Amino acid sequence: MSLSDKTNKLGLNAVFGDEPEPLPLFRAWYAEAEQAEPYDHTAFALATADALGRPSVRMMLLKGADEGGFAFYTNLNSRKAAELKANPHASICFHWKNLRRQIRIGGPVTPVSDAEADAYFASRDHGSRVGAWASLQSSPMVFPAELRERLAKLQTQYPEGSEVPRPPHWSGWRLEPIEVEFWFHGDDRLHERLLYQKSGDGWERSILHP
Ligand SMILES: Cc1cc2nc3c(=O)[nH]c(=O)nc-3n(C[C@H](O)[C@H](O)[C@H](O)COP(=O)(O)O)c2cc1C
Repeated sequence: MSLSDKTNKLGLNAVFGDEPEPLPLFRAWYAEAEQAEPYDHTAFALATADALGRPSVRMMLLKGADEGGFAFYTNLNSRKAAELKANPHASICFHWKNLRRQIRIGGPVTPVSDAEADAYFASRDHGSRVGAWASLQSSPMVFPAELRERLAKLQTQYPEGSEVPRPPHWSGWRLEPIEVEFWFHGDDRLHERLLYQKSGDGWERSILHP
């Protein structure tokens, strides 16, 4: 009998487990995805909306998941940053094709602390740190060679091996989950879905129709 044939106490597939809160299950699936996905299990879609509720979505990389939430980093002048400032709520979605699993997480977002952003920025390779200064993310390029020229100047200013400070326009956000939904592929499109919703200090679990 394979794991996907077994069920847990709720009668759900055993891959859902019986945890009363979502983080342990997220961590377990994330660790399995690291093994199963050939390229970047940390990638997720981040959906934001502007002040009028008009949505936009893009892929991002997860840079931390703990009791405080799910952290990601970007340019603070980007479209997503403008939307998160106007409407500090987001929804993120992981899809791990080889595992045939999806996790959707929603909730309010708050900026990470400067100390946290500094620490993560310092962990990036030199080229990415210089690149963060060079890119005016989401702004139109005035002329095609603009980025190359900016980059060349910055590479002279910050040669390989030198300290590169975190740009003031580069930091991160943390999404505090208030709902987390785990989805597992089922035969004949009878997929299985487990929803955790924040309720007071704890979580409510419910099963959703496919
Ligand atoms: C797999 C993948 C991961 C990405 N990760 C990030 C990321 O962590 N941070 C980021 O700013 N952009 C990342 N990007 C680029 C974004 O998808 C997007 O193009 C960029 O952030 C500008 O988005 P915006 O104009 O909506 O702000 C990634 C793209 C892909 C395809």
